[in-house]
Amino acid sequence: MRERCKAGPIAGAILAVALCVHAGAAFAASATAPLRRLAASRGLHIGTAVSDDALVSDPDYRRVLRREFNIVTPENVMKWGPIHPERDRYDFAAADRLVAEARKAHMRVRGHTLVWYMQNPAWLTGGAFTRDEAIAVLHDHIGTVVGRYRGKVAQWDVVNEAFGDLDGNPRNTIWRQRIGPDYIEMAFRFAHEADPRAKLYYNDFLTEISAAKFDAVLALVTDLKARGVPIDGVGFQTHAFYGVGCTGCVTTLAEQFARVAAAGLDVAVTELDAGLPQPTTPALLQQQADFYGGVVAACRSVRRCRTIVSWGFTDRYSWIPAFIPGQDDALPFDRAYQPKPAYFAIQRALRVRR
Ligand code: G3I
Repeated sequence: MRERCKAGPIAGAILAVALCVHAGAAFAASATAPLRRLAASRGLHIGTAVSDDALVSDPDYRRVLRREFNIVTPENVMKWGPIHPERDRYDFAAADRLVAEARKAHMRVRGHTLVWYMQNPAWLTGGAFTRDEAIAVLHDHIGTVVGRYRGKVAQWDVVNEAFGDLDGNPRNTIWRQRIGPDYIEMAFRFAHEADPRAKLYYNDFLTEISAAKFDAVLALVTDLKARGVPIDGVGFQTHAFYGVGCTGCVTTLAEQFARVAAAGLDVAVTELDAGLPQPTTPALLQQQADFYGGVVAACRSVRRCRTIVSWGFTDRYSWIPAFIPGQDDALPFDRAYQPKPAYFAIQRALRVRR
């Protein structure tokens, strides 16, 4: 949705037309200054999670994706379920398709994700494994997947969401149950062994509203680094599950980014979106824009934050309405691929000279 030009009385209408023309010209200018070009001029990568279905079936999706972004994350196709459906069978077709698309469009790739508690195949979740067998399965998976994309995936979400949703308690996942707490260290070491040049991240969400969770994440990554475990960064998913109602979250995120950087690790915004309560209103769209712009500004306030990825880019393909009842319209482009206020807020935040 293009930024609205406000109509008014006759004089105002003339002014409004002038403003619209200006805005139109500005819009035309901004349309030729896509996010990836602005980001690159600041040494940043800005991107999106990619829906395999949309990539395959929607030419408008591909057009906007290539125009606007220089880093992509597979939304699902590199998770255990899709890529390793049977113990002795991998299915790389969709992941290969994304990696090929990215290389053709000169985009970096964030691999997602090597260890998680969701979207695992039945053979893994239902199988009976000794600790040594579980370690061997993990080693084989990470070695095979990371090895296949060696030199083609710049960053990996090695371990995703190892803590509770809103607390600092370790999540009791199948990996923790079968291997024990050191599954995390093993995963990072296996990934580094398979591709020593890939940047390896721990990824999680909602630290901006749970100080206990953030403290637990920081303690984990600081300890891993101190023990020489190959970890390079922390991914902040930045899903605004709370809608756009958390006024202090952006400030908290900036502080948390700075604390991770001070610990000698990189920061990445990995799954940015902001679901809106329905029906969406102009006021909510403006709050959403403020949130998106604020997160980009928070990333840019920390030298070690160089990556900003939204979890999808058009409301036409978003996980939110199916998973978060009552929320929708979470992304910078609407269903017709028109930029929303959030898009222009990202642009403005990228344009600021540091
Ligand atoms: O591909 C199958 C299809 O063959 C089948 O017919 C259909 C119905 O069962 O399911 C399809 O798989 C779905 C998949 O999305 C692809 O659409 C899974 O059921 C569904 O659970 C999966 O949801 C994904 C969710 O993670 C769980 O993996 C969402 O798209 C994805 O946006 C979401 O992303 C996560 C990040 O990976 C981690 N951080 C949180 C984020 C949001 O939950």
